[in-house]
Amino acid sequence: MLIKILGAAAGGGFPQWNCNAATSRAAWSNAAGVKPCTQSSLAISADGDRWILLNASPDIRQQIAATQALHPRAKGTLRNSPIQAVVLTNADVDHVAGLLSLRERHPLTLYGSSRVLDVLAANSIFNVLHPDHVTRRPLVLGEPNAIAHHGRDLGITVEPFGVPGKIALYLEDAAAGPGLGTREGDTIGLKVTATATGHAFYYLPACAAVDAGLRQRLRGSSLVFFDGTLFTDDELVKQGLSDKTGARMGHISMAGPDGAMAAFADLDVARRIFIHINTSNPAWIEGSPERREIEAAGWEIACDGMEVRL
Ligand code: MLT
Ligand code: MN
Repeated sequence: MLIKILGAAAGGGFPQWNCNAATSRAAWSNAAGVKPCTQSSLAISADGDRWILLNASPDIRQQIAATQALHPRAKGTLRNSPIQAVVLTNADVDHVAGLLSLRERHPLTLYGSSRVLDVLAANSIFNVLHPDHVTRRPLVLGEPNAIAHHGRDLGITVEPFGVPGKIALYLEDAAAGPGLGTREGDTIGLKVTATATGHAFYYLPACAAVDAGLRQRLRGSSLVFFDGTLFTDDELVKQGLSDKTGARMGHISMAGPDGAMAAFADLDVARRIFIHINTSNPAWIEGSPERREIEAAGWEIACDGMEVRL
């Protein structure tokens, strides 16, 4: 199985268009050891020919342009794309807005939880993915779902499972209490398996906490892409960017006793890669104390164009 990191950054990208805080400023000024990145998405393929997107970011056009494997095939028909299917892990803007760029009456199969597909159904702008051409298939949580397009199996199975998280920002309902209206299926993680080889990895670009069930699931796995939105829970508050903590945003932080690095310390995960990294996160800066702490804990920082072969 081939995995291409199309976008490593959280919503807004790195640097985010309106951010002038220190980490973003380093990217704006092309500082050494700082690499701008687009918004959160992976492309995966069992055969190197037919590709599946995990989330569709607002930067999708740029991501396709930068990734030759995703270009229309020169020997194909007048309209063609190796992208056959899209699997969504939540309804965040950074994960669904790219769907709007996949229009032009192109056949695709779109997978998401019923909760996320309901959000798309309630927003008629997504009808640019014309129902005559784009089939929407609800994922069954807790079971392997074979990913297929036009009746052809793509050789990849995803097992979606609910993870601690939050409903999309634009759907938050303050009147619904502390959960803001969050329900099962609003945030899922994926176990992605190549059917032929059995090789598997986990993809969790949003996760609020590593609970006992998740620990059990991830223990001993060979590769996990995990929510790296913030280095510390109060990073946005401390930098004066927002009054929101990571907990309020539905994102675990990297550091600290309740953070991802501590949670994974005894999980025996062979390869751990932070993804969905916010523009404020000092982890972006090579050689920074935070980056060194991350690397010392055995973690990698994803970047656009990174590839993994399983
Ligand atoms: C998130 O990951 O928290 C969201 O992408 C935030 C947003 O929609 O701006
Ligand atoms: Mn996001």
